[in-house]
Amino acid sequence: MFRKLKRGATKEVSNEVDKENLPKHIAIIMDGNGRWAVSRNLPRISGHKAGVEAVREVIRYSSDIGIQFLTLYAFSTENWNRPVSEVNGLMELLVLYLKKEIGELSRNNVKINVMGDISKLPKKAVLEIEKAVTSTSNNTGLTVNIALNYGSRSEILKAAKKLCQSVKSSSIDIKDIDENLFSQYLYTKNIPDPDILIRTSGEQRISNFLLWQIAYSELLFIEVYWPDFKSEHLMEAIIDFQSRQRRFGGL
Ligand code: IPE
Ligand code: IPE
Ligand code: MG
Repeated sequence: MFRKLKRGATKEVSNEVDKENLPKHIAIIMDGNGRWAVSRNLPRISGHKAGVEAVREVIRYSSDIGIQFLTLYAFSTENWNRPVSEVNGLMELLVLYLKKEIGELSRNNVKINVMGDISKLPKKAVLEIEKAVTSTSNNTGLTVNIALNYGSRSEILKAAKKLCQSVKSSSIDIKDIDENLFSQYLYTKNIPDPDILIRTSGEQRISNFLLWQIAYSELLFIEVYWPDFKSEHLMEAIIDFQSRQRRFGGL
């Protein structure tokens, strides 16, 4: 397979995932459900329903090839600005998804983790999330972080406030606050930063996702709408990632 590079040259890349050089952590902004539906003259909620299939496929593929962490942006702190009917529909879908999938996720040794302030979600959703997290807590395979009512700025603010409290109560000295310590106050504590951030639907923005954690992530913007995202797209994304040279500021 040849990949066209921006500067006009082509570079030969593999058409197979190198299992020895897998990204540890893949983060995905699952975008384009609404446009997928509208382009088919369907209500937006049908796009969200179709998007659930893509979630299933991506989790299955990531687990099969041995990815350790998959973080999925499911609902942002800004998504409350959508019509109530869409928000309610999304919450109902979440409950249905967890109820239906938890058995299979458990059998596949998948661990569910949640990032975001879920206390603001409907009670039914909170209960289902807690059940999913507890019942998979001892699993040792793929960890799926679901970002729900997640916003990166609010995550960072929350961390800063907690740290201030610790300084005030003298349990932490200001001089001991470094990047490592700060990271421990984020939802992603003990999780390596994403190696890859994928956004579907052609939009090229971050929309308040993992601002701290993606400092050195490789960014991949993919044209397809989220419901059309298949394991082949993820495979291609990983192959693309494996062809990149990460420098982290060095040479
Ligand atoms: C992503 O799809 C899902 C959520 C944000 C919950 P969208 O609903 O944003 O779909 P578009 O961007 O309107 O097409
Ligand atoms: C980002 O998508 C949030 C999720 C995928 C959950 P949005 O569709 O909300 O982002 P914007 O509004 O296009 O930036
Ligand atoms: Mg969108």
